[in-house]
Amino acid sequence: MCFVKLTLLTIFPHLFDSLLANPVIDRAIRNGLVEIDVVDIRSHTDGCFRAIDDSPYGGGAGLLLRVDALSRALDAVHDPSSRTILLGPKGRTFTQDMAHELAREEHVILVAGHYEGVDARFMSRVDDEVSIGDYILTGGESAATVVAEAVIRLLDGALRGESSIEESFENGLLEHPQYTHPVEYDGMRVPDVLMSGDREEIARFNELESIKDTIRLRPDLLPRDQEFRFFSLHRDYGYEAKVISWLGGRIPVPTVVHEEGRYLLLDRLKGRRLRGSSRNKVLGTCAHVLGMLWSMDTSGCPCLKDIQCTLADLKGRSMSYDLWCTVDRLERMTVEEELVFSHGALTLDNIIVNGNGLVGILDLRQAGLADRHRDLASILVSLEEEGIDGRDLIDMLEVEIDEEKLAYFTQLGRLERSRLPSGTSCISLSGKKRSSSEE
Ligand code: ADE
Repeated sequence: MCFVKLTLLTIFPHLFDSLLANPVIDRAIRNGLVEIDVVDIRSHTDGCFRAIDDSPYGGGAGLLLRVDALSRALDAVHDPSSRTILLGPKGRTFTQDMAHELAREEHVILVAGHYEGVDARFMSRVDDEVSIGDYILTGGESAATVVAEAVIRLLDGALRGESSIEESFENGLLEHPQYTHPVEYDGMRVPDVLMSGDREEIARFNELESIKDTIRLRPDLLPRDQEFRFFSLHRDYGYEAKVISWLGGRIPVPTVVHEEGRYLLLDRLKGRRLRGSSRNKVLGTCAHVLGMLWSMDTSGCPCLKDIQCTLADLKGRSMSYDLWCTVDRLERMTVEEELVFSHGALTLDNIIVNGNGLVGILDLRQAGLADRHRDLASILVSLEEEGIDGRDLIDMLEVEIDEEKLAYFTQLGRLERSRLPSGTSCISLSGKKRSSSEE
């Protein structure tokens, strides 16, 4: 982002004095990073009264900026490279992403609306209406100042030494708390890790603090699931925390770093997904993972994911009549289950490996006590997608396979994948909770 021309259209040019007096903006202008023209709309009107505003047709309070006055001023500054933005309370709320977008433009024209607004016909001349928040200012000049400042500081060279990369909103998170001298003030100490000199640990600590602050102060910025450099964040997966806690490190899964409200923060496993590895590595790792899951001592496991529980969970969600009929048909079939610890949604994407072998298993939101054919059905689908014959895996596993059961769980898995994962408890059709997962 290197050069932007900014034209500010206004009926009160002096209201931009503070923008031009801002040392960062002043330096950017002097260094040729930005050119700012403040244009008085009034100077483009003619006639002795230089009318720029008038009362609205149909009645209503206040005066509107006239379309002829605005258009004439715009005509004088507009060229094919211009992006014209009207500042007004009805517009899209301004964000850091929009600031980046505007910093890539060649010429941005910011039109400061005033009084009660502008004649609606002027909207045909603007590319966008932008608001700086859900409140009403006396005019668009302060809003245009905010937008201009946010854009100009992003231009290469506008900030001396300081980087805009680690700031709030730049990676979807609020910036982590920062400290300077003294080390101790009023009983509050700068966290030791920040003085350790260990760059990796400091980066990890700061990322954790950023995520915690964002959860606490601006959860609206967070999507449902997100991977960061050190952590992965999940919303509404308390069930997964419960599974991980029960597993107690017996198999390699991410550790729970933090739980707050609806959010679960897990350590991000270092490695790559098994998908894409050689056929032998894929088959060997899958066999190893399944053997490890199915041989686990399940005594005291509070997480039930048997057929009855899974169907009840599915029926608890909204679905089309066709899907409902399939669930109903599966519910009327009798399947003898042998319960083991099952991942529930095992694929080549949630097995993480490195050069030495298995690093860990992700996505335990469907894990719990279930028949081993449930895991087999899901991994076979994933192997097929990768063009690997699942029979080779079955041969390696040396377990009895019941083809009917496998077909049943393949259908059940398809149904589960077609629904949003709830990761929640088993609610029976009567509405009562079953003794399962979530309690
Ligand atoms: N003009 C009046 N209120 C405004 C707002 N919230 N944002 C942008 N321009 C405005």
